[in-house]
Amino acid sequence: MAINTRRHFLTQAASGMAVALAYPSSRVLGANNRVRVGMIGVGARGQELLKQILEVQDAELVAVVDIYTRRCEEAKRLASGIITLNDHRRLLDRNDIDAVIVASPLHIHARHFLDTLAAGKDLYAEKTMTWSIAEAEQCLAAAKKSDRVVQVGLQHESSGALADSKKWMKDGIVGKVTQVNAWMSRNTPHGKGQWVRQVPDDCTPQNVNWNAFLNGRQDRPFDPYKFINWRLFWEFSGGNVTENLIHQIAFILSALDVPLPTAASMSGGVFSEKDGREVPDTIAVTYEFPDIVVTWQSTFSNSHYGLGEHFLGSDGTIEHVAGATEMVTGESREAIRYYPEKANRRDGIPLASQTPNQNHMANWVDCVRTRKAPNAPVEIGYRSAIAAHMANISYRQKQRVTLEAARSAPPK
Ligand SMILES: NC(=O)c1ccc[n+]([C@@H]2O[C@H](COP(=O)([O-])OP(=O)(O)OC[C@H]3O[C@@H](n4cnc5c(N)ncnc54)[C@H](O)[C@@H]3O)[C@@H](O)[C@H]2O)c1
Repeated sequence: MAINTRRHFLTQAASGMAVALAYPSSRVLGANNRVRVGMIGVGARGQELLKQILEVQDAELVAVVDIYTRRCEEAKRLASGIITLNDHRRLLDRNDIDAVIVASPLHIHARHFLDTLAAGKDLYAEKTMTWSIAEAEQCLAAAKKSDRVVQVGLQHESSGALADSKKWMKDGIVGKVTQVNAWMSRNTPHGKGQWVRQVPDDCTPQNVNWNAFLNGRQDRPFDPYKFINWRLFWEFSGGNVTENLIHQIAFILSALDVPLPTAASMSGGVFSEKDGREVPDTIAVTYEFPDIVVTWQSTFSNSHYGLGEHFLGSDGTIEHVAGATEMVTGESREAIRYYPEKANRRDGIPLASQTPNQNHMANWVDCVRTRKAPNAPVEIGYRSAIAAHMANISYRQKQRVTLEAARSAPPK
């Protein structure tokens, strides 16, 4: 991690922003040493994670929390024996839960992160780690003070592609990387904006704890559209930067093993579907690092090139692509490949994927049992979150922002 990041963290901790908490240093796990799991937020992603945790042999799902009755009913249909609750504090009070998966909307992540650690539970925290830079500092500080295992839901940190990239970099066959170009593209039928979800009939004030969703945001009458489509609005979301750039910038930061960007610039707008959303659908980000420039481009009006990253080195290129439409066959493919640069590795040969993916959820459960560091620890959650927020701050301010300026800027 960058020195300036550490210094900032210490300053924050000294100024009292970090929460001082007492953590149990050891915990007796459930029967057969199984990890007893609770979940906060069982919407779309939460239900995917619920299915994943049910598949992990050394884990047992005990209870879930959601503030929308429909989601609790859906979770119960997926795992009939579980307890369902409507307040995350009741879940964290329970002694029969060792570890918690958080998959709530972005603007509530920090609260659920901090409360889970304060309750002495291990944590799987969906990305992006937090909604703001200040919250990321708080969560990093709390995690560092605790001995709890924290895995961030950046599942590509468990990928074989990342392991291959790190190995090729370490082996010296990529050489000096001065540029990384990344992109992410999607499309939807005309008239239907990316991410827009229909509001179910039972999404009513009787079935939703609207106040718990607002999480301290300005009080207002129940708004079912915003509750379901929180991703489209800055108050609750960071848009495509916190939804998708986050995975790729985490991958790039890990592969290059570089500290935080020194500056970010982001341009774009709402161009694809003008459906009332605030967050841009068309984006170009440039990150500056000492001696490296990283770019990321994104559109919601064309999916032809899928997503990927090109690491451009003096001795070789790493090409990581997924979901691109192959010109001739029309098929999509995911691949990681290495190509030597003839200028500096005349006899080098191209390489293909070498390492299998690890199961990110199983890695977390394994680390809860062994107390080892997981594949996506709090540090990469923190660094990727800061990078994402720098880009959004630049977009909102319509100017290039340095790391220092972003840290003192209003959120987003
Ligand atoms: N890692 C990945 O690949 C991946 C993929 C998709 C989504 N995500 C992340 O997962 C998170 C959730 O996204 P989603 O699409 O599932 O959203 P969603 O709206 O479908 O689900 C969020 C759930 O949280 C519940 N909730 C809201 N406030 C709550 C509170 N105070 N306490 C308890 N529950 C509360 C909602 O009722 C809802 O069921 C987001 O942070 C998103 O970025 C990650």
